[in-house]
Amino acid sequence: MAEIEWTYVTRDFETISGEAAKALIEKTNDRRYLTRDAGIRTVSVDRWKLAQDAELHHWLSVRAHMDEDRNVDHAYMYDRYSALQGRTFENAIELGCVPFTNMRVIGQVCTMKRVSLLDPLAEGYLKHPHCAYREGTLTTLNGNVVPVAELIALPIEQFQPKESYDLVVMLNVIEHCYNVPVIFRKIWDMTRPGGLVLFHDRYYDHEQVIVEAERTYDAAHPLKVDRKMINGFLQRFQGVFFRVITTHGFTQHSGTGDQVYFIGVKPETA
Ligand SMILES: C[S@@+](CC[C@H](N)C(=O)[O-])C[C@H]1O[C@@H](n2cnc3c(N)ncnc32)[C@H](O)[C@@H]1O
Repeated sequence: MAEIEWTYVTRDFETISGEAAKALIEKTNDRRYLTRDAGIRTVSVDRWKLAQDAELHHWLSVRAHMDEDRNVDHAYMYDRYSALQGRTFENAIELGCVPFTNMRVIGQVCTMKRVSLLDPLAEGYLKHPHCAYREGTLTTLNGNVVPVAELIALPIEQFQPKESYDLVVMLNVIEHCYNVPVIFRKIWDMTRPGGLVLFHDRYYDHEQVIVEAERTYDAAHPLKVDRKMINGFLQRFQGVFFRVITTHGFTQHSGTGDQVYFIGVKPETA
């Protein structure tokens, strides 16, 4: 495994390295959350709130000019969502939708009769100049208008769904959360039998997380989940699409390592 540099990423997304980072990491780090073999899969709610403070600041100040969060990149990685082409979903939900949503892109290839959007920062995101759901509807990139059934300003861990969903989308969110076992249980329960789950995230290895917990701290990204835990969850679904890509850290904060893009069906018998 390559040597990992001391790296401290602040609430303002400033990256500090070398001895200055080392001094900061000695005071503030996430080592206490390391599990025996699953990376970091839970943190305290207070630690999560610090990360959420960084995230809100990121979108409302640092990136107030932006109108998407790699949503089109995700579409390419998913072969432009061709597995969903021509399908109709009665009740879709996106988890961790930021101000823009992936549903604007996904809704180009399929019909969503209604969509719910969940993000703990949803109320703050309504102030973003490019918030896509401020008017209570979502307009897909090819101009279809989808009613927003519910805007849910809660973490998934605290969400008590009143209904089930036949399309559940969660892309690039898990590192921001605070309790992955609860989240996986919630996603399973909210997905209708026969419904589809789209999941994309970083694939960590526990050994790598041990080293990173020692030498790095990233205010906005508290969790680093070992791939075995992610795979254990995804294997409960019937796989429709599975792709692993390796990133090389060419863009700031993208890091290096594997990322999984998955689509699966919850079995009818579940
Ligand atoms: C990197 S952004 C998501 C990006 C977007 N989904 C995409 O495809 O690029 C992470 C989002 O997850 C949200 N988030 C943080 N903790 C969460 C939780 N416990 N449940 C749901 N969303 C959460 C954050 O507020 C933030 O808006």
